[in-house]
Parts: sequence; structure tokens; C-alpha cells
Amino acid sequence: MNDQEKLKELFLLDKNICFLNFGSFGACPKPIFEEYLRWAYELEKEPVQFLVNNAPKLIETARIALSEYVNCHHDDLVIVTNPSYAINMVVKSLALKAGDEILATNLEYGACDRVWEYYTQKVGAKYVRQQITLPFYSKADFVENFFEGLTDKTKFVYLSHITSATALILPIKEICAIARSKGLITIIDGAHAPGHIPLDLIDLQADIYTGACHKWMMTAKGSSFLYVRKDLQHLFDPLVISWGYKSTTPSHSQFIDYHQLQGTRDFSAFLTIPKAIEFMQENKWTQVAKNCREITHANASRFCELFDTKPLAPINDEFMGQMFSTKIKCSQPDVLQQHLFQKYNIEVLISKNESDLFVRYSINAFNSQADLDKLFVALSEIKEKGVLLS
Ligand SMILES: Cc1ncc(COP(=O)(O)O)c(C=O)c1O
Repeated sequence: MNDQEKLKELFLLDKNICFLNFGSFGACPKPIFEEYLRWAYELEKEPVQFLVNNAPKLIETARIALSEYVNCHHDDLVIVTNPSYAINMVVKSLALKAGDEILATNLEYGACDRVWEYYTQKVGAKYVRQQITLPFYSKADFVENFFEGLTDKTKFVYLSHITSATALILPIKEICAIARSKGLITIIDGAHAPGHIPLDLIDLQADIYTGACHKWMMTAKGSSFLYVRKDLQHLFDPLVISWGYKSTTPSHSQFIDYHQLQGTRDFSAFLTIPKAIEFMQENKWTQVAKNCREITHANASRFCELFDTKPLAPINDEFMGQMFSTKIKCSQPDVLQQHLFQKYNIEVLISKNESDLFVRYSINAFNSQADLDKLFVALSEIKEKGVLLS
């Protein structure tokens, strides 16, 4: 068995499926999933002792491990179920006023776009989805295009660290530095970043940042975090008000008290964070990720040629990680995705950004060149028939 085959053995994924959609929900390796079950059993063995006495310390241990991994102070991040939850917390807490503008891009994740739309419409604020010209060719190119959307009403800047449908790494550090110099608050949707690209929150200097642990860090599902710069933490309302508000036993941090306690809940997925970090270290994930990026990038051009498209940004580590997306012309995207699954046993994402459709493949430790060859043959065949793809 070669290294890729050995790593494949560590995942629970169905061996009959060519799994090229890690980006949507991640996939939890066996040792991490066993850790998840171990915590679930621990809870059920003595729910009272576990939830009342043990959980707070265990969560703190998980937060400390996570904060070391993403480089920030452990009291500046709270655990949340998923980035959608975090963005709801953020937008609801910002005290948006009529006329305020939020500068975002037209490449943001649809569910989070909806959160902004919901709350801005309520108060008469404006969610500005700045149109990004694709392809862009440099960080400076992107930054200039993005800030064309700035006005004297802009109060907040919001964008993804790695975009969903288009799979692009955006120049967040540069954007945050400019935004700060203009007195704007930055909110970064880093759902895809932890475990995917090196992440250093102190270096990045975003004011607010959410990341998923259940995607590329491979924890059990329902494990994510929200980081907030210390001097903004007092602005954050709990999305679920519980015992942490007017706590009779307050900790040193109102931020933690407010957001950690939400009534009875299962913390097992959060408690897999230390194991996930250990798993990545033991399996030399920096090297694994590098190999995956190489496969991802090396195949990009032939998929572009197949669909007569251009890469959406330069194909290098600055703009592309372990996912690659290219535009397709397809009449029935849902049918295409199902057809690839049912006829070819390929799980790959066909997704929409505004009116454009994209095929996005993700590469992780268990994938090999053969998987992308299989996808290429399948898409070529479908295109040849000229019904679903043209
Ligand atoms: C860029 C981006 N942001 C946010 C999310 C939301 O993640 P979740 O469904 O875990 O809240 C996703 C999900 O794929 C995403 O791609």
C-alpha cells in the first residue's frame, strides 16, 4: 500500500465512491470519529457529572488546543455549531442602522448572504455585493476591484477567506489592513480555511473571524468557532440566552459565558478538536496538504480546456488550495450532479454563483490522480452527448 492508500484506509468514506466533494461537509477519519463516540458515551454514562462538572474544563482544553492551532488567545474564541450560526451571531449583534453599508463580494456563500439580507432589510442598511471581475490576476488586482465598492457609508467589510462555488483564496490580510486604516470593522467567513491553508489569526488581523472545524480540520460535524477581537466582544449578544447571562458563577470572560451556555447540548463534536489536531500532526498533514494542492493545481488546466474556460485566478498557492472550480454550461445542474453520482459513482459539487454554474472538485489525502482522471472522462463523455453539458 502506498501512503495515499494507507490514508484512505483511515477514512469512513464508501470505497465505491470517487469522493471529490470534501469541501461541502468534510469527512471525519475513523480515529477522530471514535473519539467523538467516546465522548458521547462518556456523557451518557453520567450526564449530570459530565455536563455540569466536566464539560466546562474539557471545552476549555479544546479551545486552548484550537487557539494554538489558529494562533489567537483562547479567550478570544468561542465554540459554535457552524459558521452559519456564527454569522447570525455577528450580524444580529452589530446594531446596524439605516443607511449603513456592508461591503462584501458577489462570491459569498448563499446562506450567509441571506443572513445579511435579512438583517439589513429590517433596518434599511445596505449589503453591497461588489462585483468581482473574474479572472483576477494578482492580489492588488482583487483589492482594487473590491474597494471600488467603498463609500462614505461603509461601516463593515465582509468576505470569505476561501470562496465556496469559485474556490478562490482571497487576499484577506491585505483587505483587513486597508479596512483597518479606514476605521472599518472586518468580518471574515473562514469556513474553508482551518486545516486547509495555514491560518494565523494574529497575523491576519481580522476583527471577527469564523472557521469550521468539521470541514478541513476533520472533526465530527457541528464543530466550529467564532473569534472576536477583545475590545469588540462586549458588543456580542448571545444568540440563545441561557445561564451565562447574569451568571451566578461568572467566569473571567463574559464572552465565553454568554456564548457557551445554551441549555442542554452535546459537546462531543467540539471535544474532538484536540484529537483532530493530533491526527493532522501524526499524519504529517502539512505535507499531505502540499501533495493535495499539487494534484489540484496540476489538473486545473485540462478541466479549463475541456470547458473552454480560463482559471478564475492564477493557479498557485496564493489563490488556490485543495479545491478547484471552473465554469460550465449546463441546463440542469441538479440532474448533472445526480447523474455523475448514479452513473459514474462520482461525488463532486456542481454549484451556482449568481447565474454562473461551476464544477468544483476537492482533493484530500484519500484522493489520487486516478480520481480526477475518472472525473475528466465522465465529464468528457457527458459533454460529448451534448444534453446536460455543452
Ligand atoms: C464559504 C462558506 N461559508 C459558510 C459556509 C457554511 O458552513 P456551515 O453550513 O457549516 O454553517 C460554507 C459551507 O460550505 C461555505 O462554503
